[in-house]
Amino acid sequence: MVSKSSPPKDLGKICMMRDLLLGTSDQLYQAIRQLLFRLPAQEAHERILDTLTWLDAHDIPQHILRLTRQQMFPHKPVSAGEADLPFPMMLAAGFVKGTGFETEAAALQAVANEENIIPGWRTMPALVGPIEYGSYTRWPRLGNPGTVIWRDAPNRSLQNRVGLKNPGAKAAAAFLTKNRIDLPPVFGINIAVSPGVDDPQQTQQEVLEAIRFFVYQGVVPTWFTLNISCPNTEDDPGSRQTEAHTRQLCRAVTDELHDTVPLWVKISPDLAPEQYQVLLRVFEETGVKAVIASNTLAQPAPNAPGVVAGVAGARLHVPALQLARQLMCEKSKRGYTLDVVGCGGIQDGLTLQNYFAWGIRAVQYWSALIFRGPLAAAYILREAYND
Ligand SMILES: Cc1cc2nc3c(=O)[nH]c(=O)nc-3n(C[C@H](O)[C@H](O)[C@H](O)COP(=O)(O)O)c2cc1C
Repeated sequence: MVSKSSPPKDLGKICMMRDLLLGTSDQLYQAIRQLLFRLPAQEAHERILDTLTWLDAHDIPQHILRLTRQQMFPHKPVSAGEADLPFPMMLAAGFVKGTGFETEAAALQAVANEENIIPGWRTMPALVGPIEYGSYTRWPRLGNPGTVIWRDAPNRSLQNRVGLKNPGAKAAAAFLTKNRIDLPPVFGINIAVSPGVDDPQQTQQEVLEAIRFFVYQGVVPTWFTLNISCPNTEDDPGSRQTEAHTRQLCRAVTDELHDTVPLWVKISPDLAPEQYQVLLRVFEETGVKAVIASNTLAQPAPNAPGVVAGVAGARLHVPALQLARQLMCEKSKRGYTLDVVGCGGIQDGLTLQNYFAWGIRAVQYWSALIFRGPLAAAYILREAYND
């Protein structure tokens, strides 16, 4: 029989082991980062995706990654947007999204050929827990040509104009269906509206088709996110986020999902304050369960000031936090029930606490992976909880 005094002793040992592992992995990543940061951001990202492809294919590393996550991440269950999460940090969309293809036939052929078209699909959830796959558009996209990712290391920020490069919803769904047995217990799927489609009926049709590809094949996520805010395509995201467009689209999607899967919507950080009041009301009225605030901030691209590239990381933190605060105030003033999921510049305990301070229960992150390594969320949670 285990005596009452033994758990604290074991707990002490476990904590020491965990701190040792955290410290070692932190030092290891600092060394790796020095090498990675010698490469241009895009090349470094491609090397990371190659590594993820290799890891996805091997079972022993998967076991090690899962064990690592179990040791490193604190148990802090939370519910947001009707999703139950083991802790309040999720990997945001855009990291595990997949390869770009020119045609749907080529993407489906790659799935048939057993190619890994979504690098990291297995490795990232094993290591970091809840992730959002995507964004996926109805049709595949090659994304923008040339340099599309920049690193601003002194300001711990990134900028990108990847332009929704992805294999398309049909091939992504086929790939995940094939690998359904190894999908994580908690995950989201992010569906983006089709860039360049102006007709609201067609937009709606394409979003619904994209969702059906997943659900009809049995890939039912913990939540779906509707991305209406990508700043890096031929679209003007502001025009997507009007009352008329969002009401019709959100209603169509929530009707389609029949309360079986909660719908979240991801919005821009740079709309007019009145626009956010309208959007929040529309989301509440159409049954959206959470709003992710926010996507990246549209700024001139470093190499071509005439084109826009979305800023992520520390330079996004203040605008994203201000938006989260405005949404939380509006929610409480109107008595809305939907949740706000914070996203923008969360890279340490303080930046996470900044969101908690406004009553936000769960957040998403992306850039922290680059600046603090694959276990970024574990460090951030421990710093925030002083654990
Ligand atoms: C290279 C890159 C690609 C991204 N792609 C997507 C995407 O496909 N869909 C999406 O909703 N957000 C995308 N994002 C935005 C992130 O999900 C997140 O909203 C943003 O990076 C802010 O979080 P952070 O400050 O923690 O990085 C992308 C971000 C980066 C840096």
